[in-house]
Amino acid sequence: MATAAPTIEKDYFTDHSVLLDPYDYFETIRAHGPVYQMQGRDVIVVTGFAEALEVLLNKRDFSSWLNPDPLVPLPFAVESDDISALLDANPSGQMELMVSYDGDKHLAARSLLNPLFVPSRLKANEAFMRAYADDMVREVVAAGGCELVNRVATPFVTMVIADLLGVPADDREAFRRIIDEAPPPGNMDTPDGQSIHPLMVMAGYFARYIAERRAQPQDDVMTEMAMARYPDGSTPDAMEVVKSAMFLFAAGQDTSAKLIGNALRRLCEDQAMQQALREDRKLIGPFLEEVLRVEGSTKATFRIAARATKIGDTDVPAGKRVVVALSAANRDPRRWDDPDEFRIGRPKIKEHVAFGRGAHTCAGAPLARAEVAVLLDRLLEHTRAITLDEAQHGPAGARTIAYEPSYIIRGLANLHVRFEGV
Ligand code: HEM
Repeated sequence: MATAAPTIEKDYFTDHSVLLDPYDYFETIRAHGPVYQMQGRDVIVVTGFAEALEVLLNKRDFSSWLNPDPLVPLPFAVESDDISALLDANPSGQMELMVSYDGDKHLAARSLLNPLFVPSRLKANEAFMRAYADDMVREVVAAGGCELVNRVATPFVTMVIADLLGVPADDREAFRRIIDEAPPPGNMDTPDGQSIHPLMVMAGYFARYIAERRAQPQDDVMTEMAMARYPDGSTPDAMEVVKSAMFLFAAGQDTSAKLIGNALRRLCEDQAMQQALREDRKLIGPFLEEVLRVEGSTKATFRIAARATKIGDTDVPAGKRVVVALSAANRDPRRWDDPDEFRIGRPKIKEHVAFGRGAHTCAGAPLARAEVAVLLDRLLEHTRAITLDEAQHGPAGARTIAYEPSYIIRGLANLHVRFEGV
C-alpha cells in the first residue's frame, strides 16, 4: 500500500491534500524559515509576512511575468544574473494579462481601468449591487435555502462587474452563462487550456463593444473605456482595452464569490457571531477583513526573479520562481498575535495581504469589499438565522465540505444553506 508523502515533501501545485487545504502545509514549511526552497521544484515559497512584502514591493528584481501560470516554461535559458530584458522581450503566455506585465507597460494597462474606479461610477455600481442582491436574497430566502456559491455568489459578482463595465443588459445573461461554466483559475482537476476559453469568448463581445464605441461614441462607461488614453497621451490598441476589461472578470469573479462562501460558512458555524452582525451591521466590515486575513480567497501570487537578489537573508538567483503565499503571510505569528484565532477588530487589520501589495495591489479591492458587504447585509436583513444544510454537509463535528482543488483560489466548491426568514 502506498504511504502518503510527509507534508514537507508534498508538491504545492499538484498534491490534492495541499490543493484542498494549504494551511498545514504552509505551517510545516514555515517551521523551516519564512523563505523555503521547495523540494523537487525550482521554486521558493515565501510564508513570512515581512518577506512577502519585500518581494511584492521589489518590482525591480521580481517580475510578474509568470502570473497567472507559475509553472509556464521559460522560452530561453537563464545564463546570467539579469534576465529582465529577456522577460520583457518574450510574451509569457498565449494571452498576456495586466497581472503579468511589469513596469511602464503595466502602469499603462492599469490606467485603462481608471474610468471605472471613480467615486461616481462606484456609487452607481453600489446602487445596482444593493438592488440586485436584495432581489436574489428575497428569492432564495423565500425558497427556504439554496446552494449559495454557484446559485447566488457567482452570478451576483458576475453581474456586478458587468454593470460596472456597462455591459448591455441583453448580453448579461450570456456573460453569466459563460462564467458559470468556467472552472476557477489554478484548478488542477480540469484539462489544460480549458480555463482560458471563457475569456476568449468574452473577448469577442468586448472587441465588438470597443470597435462600435470608437466608431460611434455614446454616453456610457464602455465609451469612456474605448476612448481612454495612456498616461503619455497615446491611444491604446483596441485589444489592450478588451484585455483590461475582460481581466476584471478573471480577477474579480471567483475571488469575490469564494470570499462570500468562506464568510458565510464561518457565520453558519458561529451563530453568535452571525447574530452580532445581524444586530450591528457596522461589524460586517471588520468581520470581512478578518475573513480575508484568516481565509482570504487568493492563497498565493507568483513572481520570478528578474535579477539575482535576496529575500531576507536568502540568496535568490535570477530565474527563480517565487510563490508568495499570501494566506501564510496573513498567519505569520511574527506579525499577528495568535494568528489562527478569528478576532474581529484586530488593530491594523487592513495591513493583511489578501489583496496583495505594491504595484499590482488588487485594483478591485474597494469593489470586492463593497459587494461582499452588501450581499451579507441583505442576507442578514431578510433572515433570522442562516444555517448549514446538514443533509448536504453532515452534522457539526463531521462536516463534509468540498474545497476547489486550486493552487491560487481558496474557496468552497459549494455551500448549501438553510434560511429562517423574518
Ligand atoms: C475578495 C476578492 C478579491 C481578492 C482576494 C483579490 C485578490 C487580488 C490579488 C492578491 C491581486 C494581486 C496579484 C499580484 O500581486 O500579482 C489582485 C489583483 C487584481 N485584482 Fe483582485 N481580488 C479580488 C477581487 C477583485 C475584483 C472584484 C476585481 C475587479 C472587478 C479585481 C481586480 C483585480 C485586478 C485588475 C488586479 C490586477 C492588478 C494589477 O495587475 O495591477 N479583484 N487581486
